[in-house]
Amino acid sequence: MCNQTRFWDDAKGLLEEWYVACTSKELKKDQPFSATLYGKKFVLFRQKDGTAAALLDQCVHRGVPLSKGKMTDGCVTCPYHGWSYQGDGHVAHIPSVNGQFFPEKPHPFKQRSFDVCEQDGVVWIYLGEKPKQERPEIFKLPFYDQAGWVSYYMVGSYDGEMGAVAQNIMDVTHTIFVHEGWFRSESGKAVDATIDVGPRKVVVDYHDHDADVGMMPWLTNPHGAEQVHRDSFIAPNITLVEYHWGEPSGMVFNSLISPVGPYESRVYTCVSYKFPIPKLLSKALMPAVNAYIWVVNKQDIKILSARRAGIEHMPMTHSHSVRGDMAHIALEKILDALRHDQQLAPSFIGKRPMQFQI
Ligand code: FES
Ligand SMILES: [Fe+2]
Repeated sequence: MCNQTRFWDDAKGLLEEWYVACTSKELKKDQPFSATLYGKKFVLFRQKDGTAAALLDQCVHRGVPLSKGKMTDGCVTCPYHGWSYQGDGHVAHIPSVNGQFFPEKPHPFKQRSFDVCEQDGVVWIYLGEKPKQERPEIFKLPFYDQAGWVSYYMVGSYDGEMGAVAQNIMDVTHTIFVHEGWFRSESGKAVDATIDVGPRKVVVDYHDHDADVGMMPWLTNPHGAEQVHRDSFIAPNITLVEYHWGEPSGMVFNSLISPVGPYESRVYTCVSYKFPIPKLLSKALMPAVNAYIWVVNKQDIKILSARRAGIEHMPMTHSHSVRGDMAHIALEKILDALRHDQQLAPSFIGKRPMQFQI
């Protein structure tokens, strides 16, 4: 069995979840899109009415990826012998059988189709087989269309599995090393936090209200308001990092993590911000905001690549953890429970104090 197939099979219960396949912008009307999730390839395309559809990315004739083909009348057409597929996976047209005419009824040949849902600027795909009423709800991005906030998506590839990427995002102690001077610098201070673990959620509230987080404070917090910092993990694939400086100002990074390969994820981060200046001016600042965030992002991409190099060919049998890793341990336990279709052990659930030094 190849690595990619094993990756899909090992995901088990984690397949019964919604993942992001692409942004709405990436899915053009006249071009199929190729997405990889848990090592499997999917073709996404827009049907005649503009709604999105997803199939396994393989022609049932001789196996050519359908994403290499083109769009014909809302169907995706294989580049080899021209078989066309409609959104439910049925072959709608076989040129060597029907000439140039689409038959009244589709052919019985069919590729597996997957439910998709376009919401908040991204296309979600359900990978599992559970009936609709048993599926988890699709996550609603809380700041995406909030009045007064500016939002945009930043898409990047990370050398890390879903849990490792979520850990990296929910990790304050790395910031003084990986992002030194850019985001946070060593202060020698103890930070108090409260961690709240639920069956599918980890929420960490940091009590460092006067912390000097280097996200352009002259712009984000010119009046020195108290900082509210909360990091959340919503299983299995979502992190929400929130900074608020009073009512008029805030910056939120809502990352939707899609597992691509055993050590690779595609991360769709919805960056939402609100500055104490007119919204039009805030919008105009988007390139500058994005440039700053990309510097920080690249530092994370680099450290996760280094981690991959460290463990890919020499897997760790055991990793040691300290108090500051409580959120990471909790989120991995939740992922493990979901993978095995189990409930998180009650001993992990509840609120606890957490302290570490930065
Ligand atoms: S391989 Fe796709 S039409 Fe033949
Ligand atoms: Fe980071």
